Amino acid sequence: MRLKSITYENFRNHRFLRFNPSSGINLLYGPNGSGKTSILEGIHFCALTKGFLGSPDNESLSFSKDYFLLNSIFCDGNNSDINVKIIYTKEKDKQVIVNSSEIKRFSQHLGRIPCITFSPQEIVIVHGAPAERRRFIDNTISQTDRRYLDDLLAYRRVLLQRNALLLHLYEIDERNSDMLTIMTEQLAKIAASLIYARIKFLSLFFYHFKALYSLLMINEDPAILYRCSAGKISEDPSLEELYSLISLKFKQIKKQEIARTQTLIGPHRDELVFLLNEKEIKKYASQGQMRTFLICLKLSQHRYLSEITGEEPLSLLDDVFSELDEKRTEDILGILETYGQTIITSASKKEHSNITALSIDSFEKNSS
Ligand SMILES: Nc1ncnc2c1ncn2[C@@H]1O[C@H](COP(=O)(O)OP(=O)(O)O)[C@@H](O)[C@H]1O
Ligand SMILES: [Mg+2]
Repeated sequence: MRLKSITYENFRNHRFLRFNPSSGINLLYGPNGSGKTSILEGIHFCALTKGFLGSPDNESLSFSKDYFLLNSIFCDGNNSDINVKIIYTKEKDKQVIVNSSEIKRFSQHLGRIPCITFSPQEIVIVHGAPAERRRFIDNTISQTDRRYLDDLLAYRRVLLQRNALLLHLYEIDERNSDMLTIMTEQLAKIAASLIYARIKFLSLFFYHFKALYSLLMINEDPAILYRCSAGKISEDPSLEELYSLISLKFKQIKKQEIARTQTLIGPHRDELVFLLNEKEIKKYASQGQMRTFLICLKLSQHRYLSEITGEEPLSLLDDVFSELDEKRTEDILGILETYGQTIITSASKKEHSNITALSIDSFEKNSS
């Protein structure tokens, strides 16, 4: 996938801006506050219908303007152009228009333009709460697997209903409910299928991760474990095995769940554990090790998405080289050279044979 061009109107600090990136590695440089991160944010909007900074859409609207418009042209591996427009107004909220047709369910657009990001704030994936790691894995699988995304949405819905029912049963002091039995079975089925997909994903993903990590760090042995809240699972569990395990556990903890009015096991409580030399990274690793681990997660995500979709994702890397030593920077550039189109932001210019360096000041800023 390649971005041929994008224009920004009233998007964050850009009143109007046109960006025509080259294929290969683009290095976008300019002073702090010049709008480099905003450029990546706009591309991410077009690829995945929302920004990667995690802020609500209205915060991307330029102060005192009443709409923003992003208009982009991507070109896929078959050389077909895809035109994506995002229009936001306070009244109508966000509209996503792909090749002149409006997309009503945004999830339908996911996966059409595969894309990976790196941003320094995403370090929370490595050292933050378990929910951050779950979001990482869910987002990655969702980009390639429609069914997973549908399951995930269904799971959230049933989970909410089940928690509400647990609360109700607690309030009326009742333990036996046919409704609870039905909902539990429903939830266990979706839970098993989500966990099954996550474990399958991890085995392929980790194959890429290990290979890349050994290029960046020698003498460090990384591992990624899936810790299932329902209990211990075998290395390569079947769907049936997972379903039985979850169902059995639900029977055992029924009283406890009603007392606490919450669903206590399932994919929303499972954990991904990152280890280096058998020690948990969020407890023992240095800042540098955590950052390298995060970069490696993202580079592996690229390989995974390429392998599954047959389409090379776009790489949007915000400030990826700050705080990295020369050697690591060179190694990462070496990997990125094999990765299709990459857009990297940086406060300073970098000279390198395979980089197209672009100053943000040189961009067209007139709509006429
Ligand atoms: N909604 C908005 N309207 C106008 N300016 C904004 C808005 N949101 C952020 N900005 C400003 O845009 C500028 C560029 O931000 P950013 O893209 O993070 O720059 P950089 O990455 O180059 O440091 C910042 O000065 C920020 O305050
Ligand atoms: Mg920035």
